[in-house]
Parts: sequence; structure tokens; C-alpha cells
Amino acid sequence: MFGETEYDPTGQFCSICIEEQLDALGRAVDAGKVRYIGLSNETPYGIMKFVQSAEKVSHYPRIISIQNSYNLLCRTFNSGMAECCHHERISLLAYSPLAMGILSGKYFSHDGSPADARLNLFKGRYLEGESRYNLSKKIIKDATLEYLGIARKYGLHPVSLAIAFVLRHPLVASAVFGATKSWQLKEVLNSCKVELTSEMIAEINEVHARFPNPCP
Ligand SMILES: NC(=O)c1ccc[n+]([C@@H]2O[C@H](COP(=O)([O-])OP(=O)(O)OC[C@H]3O[C@@H](n4cnc5c(N)ncnc54)[C@H](OP(=O)(O)O)[C@@H]3O)[C@@H](O)[C@H]2O)c1
Repeated sequence: MFGETEYDPTGQFCSICIEEQLDALGRAVDAGKVRYIGLSNETPYGIMKFVQSAEKVSHYPRIISIQNSYNLLCRTFNSGMAECCHHERISLLAYSPLAMGILSGKYFSHDGSPADARLNLFKGRYLEGESRYNLSKKIIKDATLEYLGIARKYGLHPVSLAIAFVLRHPLVASAVFGATKSWQLKEVLNSCKVELTSEMIAEINEVHARFPNPCP
């Protein structure tokens, strides 16, 4: 599955078998070309297949990380994926912690934000922006506004709320964020020092209960 919320058996296709992938990756590790192996956009089924296959042959490398999306608007990881990662000691490299920038709040300015902001610059030409993080979908817009409201209430920069939320997850090893300007980089790095209080978390969870996973 890749980004789908429901499994469709008719949409599945064959790929290189997992043992063959692990064999090639194991040889790359043995040759010193690769240090560690991680997966991306995997499902609980996929993770467990890799884990179990790697246990069978000594030179097959163990999976140590998974790169999946995780942010205030996308908490899909927290169910089956988190269970597998916890038991198998696999860390999450959480991509899109700012939901491609929409959690910064910039798309809510009266003029629709800077023209060079990603979702404006590539409007209609950016599949993930159009499908997953499309603010014309009411549920995404409403949920985002709620999180921006929490940030405002506690005097936090929205970027700080979003980044701190991701980094506090016990299975997150790192947040894979993007920055197109040096001031963005500074804001994101400053956000790493922010810690959310239990009161803030309770409010975040209350919004999540009303808008569960608008961007799965
Ligand atoms: N494995 C996968 O399938 C997969 C999928 C998606 C991403 N990724 C990886 O994850 C990385 C990050 O993903 P992402 O770009 O979606 O992450 P993100 O951190 O959610 O969004 C990054 C975008 O937010 C905007 N931004 C950042 N800081 C900001 C600030 N302080 N104020 C306002 N806007 C700010 C910038 O966009 P603009 O300035 O352009 O508006 C920036 O490019 C990618 O580069 C890629 O390596 C992997």
C-alpha cells in the first residue's frame, strides 16, 4: 500500500522479493557501502515481513528505521505501525512534520500566503500536495485552524507546536523536515527546544478526536 487508506487487493503488484532485497542490502553493508537499513512508506505487514526474513539468514541486515509521514494531521503511524516498531526496536524518521508547510499557518493569511510557498508555486502539479495536504478539503482546513488556535493560545509559534509534537513521540528518532529559506531552518531548529505541556497535549488530543487523521 502507498498512501491508500483502504487495502485494495486488485491494485497490488509484484515487486522484487524481500529476501532478494535483503541479500543485496546485506552485501552493501558487508562491503561498507551502507551502514544501516531502513524502510519507507511501509505498513505493519511490510515491516514484519522484512523483520522476519532478516532473522532467517545471518548476513541479512536488521531494519532499524522506518520513514513514514507523521504530524499533527497524520497520526496513522500510531496504530499498527507503532506496535511493530516498539516490539521490533525500529525508530520512526517522521517525514512532513509540518504537513508540507500548512501547519506553519502561512496559507491562512488574507492573500493566501507567499506566492513562492510550495503549495502555491506548484498548484495543480504536486500530487501529494493536491491529495494529502489540500486545504480546500474542509476537514483539513478545519483541523489545521484548530491546531493554529492551540499554538496561539499558548503563545507558541505554530511551527514549534508542530515540530515539538512530532519530536515528543517516544518512537521518533528524527523529524525529516524541509526548509527552503534559512529563516525557516532557524525557526524549525528553535522549535526542537520546545516542550509541550500535558495541558497542550490534552487539547491536541481533543482536536485529534474530533478530526482523526485528516491527512492519512
Ligand atoms: N519517504 C517519502 O515518501 C517521503 C515523502 C515526503 C517527504 N519525504 C522527505 O521528507 C522531507 C521533508 O518533507 P516535507 O518537505 O513535506 O516536510 P515539511 O517539514 O512538512 O514541509 C516542509 C516545507 O514547509 C515549509 N516550511 C518549513 N519551515 C517553515 C517555516 N518556518 N515557516 C513557513 N513554512 C515553512 C517549506 O515550504 P515552502 O517554503 O516551499 O513553502 C518547506 O519546504 C522531504 O524533503 C523528503 O526528503 C519523504
